[in-house]
Parts: sequence; structure tokens; C-alpha cells
Amino acid sequence: MDILQRQGFYGPPAGESTILGVEFSGTVVSVGSDVFSEWQIGERVFGLVYGGAYSEYVVIEAAMAARLPNKISYAIGAALPEVWLTAFQALFWNCSLVTGEDVLIHAGASAVGIAAIQLAKNAGARRIIVTVSSQEKIEFCTSLGATHAINYKSDDFKTKVAEFTEDRGVDVIVDFIGANYWDSNLASLAFDGRMVMLGFLGGPVVNSSNLGPILRKRLTVRGSALRSRSLAYQIKLKQQVEQEVFKPIFEGKTDMRAIIDREFSWKEISEAHRYLESDKSKGKIVITVD
Ligand SMILES: NC(=O)c1ccc[n+]([C@@H]2O[C@H](COP(=O)([O-])OP(=O)(O)OC[C@H]3O[C@@H](n4cnc5c(N)ncnc54)[C@H](OP(=O)(O)O)[C@@H]3O)[C@@H](O)[C@H]2O)c1
Repeated sequence: MDILQRQGFYGPPAGESTILGVEFSGTVVSVGSDVFSEWQIGERVFGLVYGGAYSEYVVIEAAMAARLPNKISYAIGAALPEVWLTAFQALFWNCSLVTGEDVLIHAGASAVGIAAIQLAKNAGARRIIVTVSSQEKIEFCTSLGATHAINYKSDDFKTKVAEFTEDRGVDVIVDFIGANYWDSNLASLAFDGRMVMLGFLGGPVVNSSNLGPILRKRLTVRGSALRSRSLAYQIKLKQQVEQEVFKPIFEGKTDMRAIIDREFSWKEISEAHRYLESDKSKGKIVITVD
């Protein structure tokens, strides 16, 4: 999102800050009079906003703000909101994943992919299959709970998914790639399979395709963009993720964890973006504003 916004392809919703960034952590410096009793000056806080999170000060709706315990670093706080809300929404709200189902997560070592692998494992998914570009990423995803990993550079993922699932296909696909995966994604879905498309890293235009599998296998294909969602929707999602994911993480009651790949000072923001664009990261890139 940050790269697309920087390139001029993905602006914030009308009326929101045009400064980049949608997630942050920090301390409360000012509180609106209507939420005076809920938040105190100096409290540690993190959250998801519609824009402006790269800046020194950020304004957030009180109901979207979450408390950051003292023992959790600001970097972890900043790394939590966007990817965990997105992955949770994708698996459970968009695709209704339930225990015992098989899931295919593309870009398994992406920050959203990392959250999705752990959420699927925590929910008792049977097979958690990921696609990645290297052996290093295969080992990384496996260590997080992926049961099968495919190097899409050397193997055809459709063939591998068929092999892993005894030709049945998977129940759920979380896709970020789009056009060049479209046909293989449809082929990899089981009957009544669900796929959510969260990005088009491989492009948005499919030139020719057979839509037959959608009808024949009763598939559900949907898109999702969290930033375009209403405040009411985001608050509901945040509240559920806070209870079911952030709280257990903070209390050490789950194996799920946020993974930070690298931290940069805001003065190195160009380098941070170049690193993000290199596809080398395995987890969040956090910017420190001082
Ligand atoms: N719709 C939403 O609400 C929403 C919310 C958050 C994020 N997103 C989207 O979700 C995606 C992942 O975000 P993120 O922050 O988790 O990303 P990230 O940590 O930067 O990881 C992206 C990874 O995608 C893989 N990739 C890139 N181009 C590819 C291509 N053409 N084909 C196959 N794999 C490719 C690379 O891994 P390999 O080395 O394995 O190829 C790369 O490391 C982005 O597209 C982002 O815009 C959408």
C-alpha cells in the first residue's frame, strides 16, 4: 500500500491525511473531551488509521486505539495492526475458514502471509500450504506452521497443491498475486472453495480464462481492501482481533507472534522503501520517528 501510494496509484480515502502510513505505536499526548475518561495522557497506544502514520503525531478514533502493555516494544505494537487485521479478516470473515480445512496462502513469507499462517494453525487448519520464492522462505514458513511449502520459481503450484491434497484442492486461498495465478487458483480450489484477493502483485488483467470452475465447483471469489472499509467495520474487526489475537500474544498465551524483519530510522525512509521493494523481507519493516 505504501509503495502504491508513493507512486500515486493508491490515495487515502477522501479527507484523510495524505502522509503515508496506516499503522503506528506511541504515547497519548492529547485526548478528545468525549473520550476523556477512557484514555489518559502518557498511555502507550497502537492502532490502525486511514493515513498519516509516518508522521510524528497521528489522530485516531478512540475506539480504534489499542493499549500497548509496558512489556511489549513500540516496534511490535506498530507491526501488529494492519497485517493481523487483514489476515484475520481474510481467513475468517471473508473465507469462513474452520478447523480441519485446507488453506493455500500465497506470498507465505509476506507480513500478511506470516500472520495468516499462524492464524490458520491456531484455528486448527489441516493443511497450510504456502508459495514462496526461495528455500530460505520455505524453511521460515515451515517454522511458523506451514505444513507444505512450494517454491513457485521451480515448481508449478497447481500441480503441487493437487499432489498435497490428493487432487481434492484447498478450501481457502488467500491471494495477493492476481492475474498470473488466476487459472491455477481456480484449479486449486476444492468444491465450495473460497478465495479472497487482497492484492495484484502479479497484475490485475486476465486476458483469457475459463470461468467454468467457478460454476462447476460452486466457488466464491471476492476482493477485499481494508482501508476502504467504514470506521464501524474497522472497529468491529479491531475489537475481535484484539480479544482473540493481540490479548493472547501480550499475555503469552499463544505461539502466535509479530515478526519484525528490520527497523529503520525515518531518516532512512528511501532505503526502507527500497528494501521493501526488494522482496527480501520476511516480516514487518518498522520505521522509528524521533
Ligand atoms: N487488501 C487489503 O486490505 C490489504 C491489506 C494489507 C496488505 N495487502 C496486500 O497484501 C500484499 C502483501 O503485503 P505485505 O505487507 O504482507 O507484503 P510484504 O511483506 O512486502 O511481502 C510481499 C511478498 O510478496 C511476494 N511477491 C511480490 N511480488 C510477487 C509476484 N509478482 N509473484 C509472487 N509473489 C510476489 C514476495 O515474496 P516472494 O519472495 O516469496 O516472492 C514479497 O516478499 C501486498 O500486495 C499488499 O498490498 C492488502
